[in-house]
Amino acid sequence: MKVITGKSIKDVDKNEIENFLKVYKKVEIDLGTGDGRYVYKNAKENSDTLFIGIEPIQKQLENYSRKSQKENITNALYILGSIEFFPEELIGTADKLTIILPWGSLLQSITNPNYEKTALISNILKNKGICEIVLGYSKEHEPNETERLELQNLSVEYLKSTVISMFKKNNLYLTEITSLGKGDLKSIESTWSKKLSFGKNRPLYQLKFKKMLN
Ligand SMILES: C[S@@+](CC[C@H](N)C(=O)[O-])C[C@H]1O[C@@H](n2cnc3c(N)ncnc32)[C@H](O)[C@@H]1O
Repeated sequence: MKVITGKSIKDVDKNEIENFLKVYKKVEIDLGTGDGRYVYKNAKENSDTLFIGIEPIQKQLENYSRKSQKENITNALYILGSIEFFPEELIGTADKLTIILPWGSLLQSITNPNYEKTALISNILKNKGICEIVLGYSKEHEPNETERLELQNLSVEYLKSTVISMFKKNNLYLTEITSLGKGDLKSIESTWSKKLSFGKNRPLYQLKFKKMLN
């Protein structure tokens, strides 16, 4: 597993990470964390919980990982990875998984879900773990990306018939679905939620799931 701190990259093996995880009451993973602001902010406020940000673009992680090191925030980890190349050491470790304003193939994995990717999302969580997703796009404002990613119009009906049903097949049961206004994004401590809270209006949803094994 590749841990990023500023410009440096360190290989951490399974034993090391297991020992580290044991120190904390809870583990939260933020997939597609971008610059990791969400991890930094939440780690600062909740010292009992280990926050792990996973992001495929190394450069993105530099700033907040350096900031965390400088401020001695030891419960924040920034790791190189993606939904396609998810660090296997972290499978089954999360009490909570967040995916905030995904884009690219991460968004596609959720809105045009297939069994394997949804199974991975489920497998990241412990039993009774929680998955929270905030997503939104509009064909009007993002015509090229929505076409390239073959994204359908977002609606509660679409999410229920496609996404929520596939999640259920993988033991992730919907507990809440909320339609958000852009102002609602302000309370989420991530860079893109702040940006989009001042942006154009677009359909935005928050989905919460609980993993329940039989
Ligand atoms: C709009 S940004 C949101 C970043 C962050 N969650 C936030 O709210 O500020 C979308 C992020 O998803 C990441 N991403 C794209 N494809 C991904 C994939 N296949 N797996 C994981 N992350 C991915 C991008 O690199 C980018 O950082």
